[in-house]
Amino acid sequence: MSSSHKFVVFSALSLSLYIFHFPLRYISHLTKSKLISSKPPSTTKLPQATPMGSLPSPPRSSTPSPSSPNNSLSSYRVCATFCFREPAPNLNISNWIEFYDPSTNTWTYASSIPGLTENHILKGFAMVSLGDSVYIIGGRVCFKERAHTSDECSELVDVDIEVSSSVLRYNVGSDQWSTCAPLGIPRSDFACTVSENKIYVAGGKSTLACARGIPLAEVYDPELNEWTPLPNMSTLRYNCVGVTWLGKIYVVGGFAERADSELPPIMVRSCAEVYDTQTRMWDLIVGMWQLDVPPNQIVEVDGRLFSSGDCYKQWKGHIESYDGKLNIWNEVEGSQIQSLNSLISALGTQHDHNWALSQRRYLTMAPIGLNLYFLAGYGIYREFSRTMSIVHKFDISATSDAWTSMEPMEEDGEKELCGHCCVVQLT
Ligand SMILES: *[C@@H]1O[C@H](CO)[C@@H](O)[C@H](O)[C@H]1NC(C)=O
Ligand SMILES: *[C@@H]1O[C@H](CO)[C@@H](O)[C@H](O)[C@H]1NC(C)=O
Ligand SMILES: *[C@@H]1O[C@H](CO)[C@@H](O)[C@H](O)[C@H]1NC(C)=O
Repeated sequence: MSSSHKFVVFSALSLSLYIFHFPLRYISHLTKSKLISSKPPSTTKLPQATPMGSLPSPPRSSTPSPSSPNNSLSSYRVCATFCFREPAPNLNISNWIEFYDPSTNTWTYASSIPGLTENHILKGFAMVSLGDSVYIIGGRVCFKERAHTSDECSELVDVDIEVSSSVLRYNVGSDQWSTCAPLGIPRSDFACTVSENKIYVAGGKSTLACARGIPLAEVYDPELNEWTPLPNMSTLRYNCVGVTWLGKIYVVGGFAERADSELPPIMVRSCAEVYDTQTRMWDLIVGMWQLDVPPNQIVEVDGRLFSSGDCYKQWKGHIESYDGKLNIWNEVEGSQIQSLNSLISALGTQHDHNWALSQRRYLTMAPIGLNLYFLAGYGIYREFSRTMSIVHKFDISATSDAWTSMEPMEEDGEKELCGHCCVVQLT
């Protein structure tokens, strides 16, 4: 193992520097907010200083052992990364991590992503959990710039700087970051999934100039801290979604074309590639994702795959589940709801905001037990610097009234979700 492949633990000193530089305005956001119940970062526990180059103990299996099952809701956290929507003076808008506790319906600030230049944002990365750690893999580093579309109008655009190969690990229990062996090739907007305690990545874009996706795939073994190349997929693909299903690695949808076609690319967006870890081969499933538009997220619950929409329409009015025999997606009974925020009116007049006119800023889906959690954020109409966060839960085992909505929570600031969430089970 080369020295660059060893874990380098961020020292307590450098972490305290991040905290020292944490903008005052953000701290006031946190303390004023009813929503974020944690202490502001200035008082978060500093990690124990760990000698450089020492290897933290490898993460434990994410599946609880059958002898001591602990599936109590309070042991789960949904991990999400946000940035602020608009740059402002004295505000570092770079990504931070928050945890949602489903047992108390509260969000808590956890940490900022280390190593980013102030106001730089990481997007197009993958975030997965393995044991009690969260891994942040690859992505695009960008910043926000106001582009003038006409004399009076301007809009914020992301200006990309580079595609990253970095892999960071955040240990949830010890609140400690470490750097892992980098990806074999930089990538953003790729598929990522965990299977048998290994992290699989496939496709994506390897450079900013890369107009087509890449066919390359690799696997990370956290015990060895090593990435190993896998065979190429038969398609070049980006904006694809990864999910583990029935022991196989699925890379679904996205913008894809056959690697072997020299002539005008045959668009094969609606297919999926499946990797069998036993035979070490990729297989193509034609028509698994029947849309040109890439899927938003696909998650597995109780041996079934679920989706609620695509990249352009994240909520399509119902939840769908995949029928592998017929190769079709079926509407899940009882999941039909025109608009997710119509669920909120059922909560009474206590929150009489103009929901019909509020705009959803983000939506991400998290599987916990037999429930699908939909974590949504809305910009509040006429109140531009506030966000309403609300979590809806769909019980896939229920025969009626499968939806439950949690109490909405209001927050200062307008935040943006920077990537899909993942679920961590605390040990
Ligand atoms: C399960 O985990 C929760 C929170 O981590 C803890 O409070 C509870 O005591 C645990 N239950 C068992 C049976 O271990
Ligand atoms: C800005 O935030 C990023 C991510 O939270 C952090 O890495 C960086 O150190 C911060 N910069 C300053 C100058 O505070
Ligand atoms: C895999 O794809 C890469 C990038 O397109 C290519 O350079 C490489 O030769 C391929 N490897 C194999 C074994 O086909």
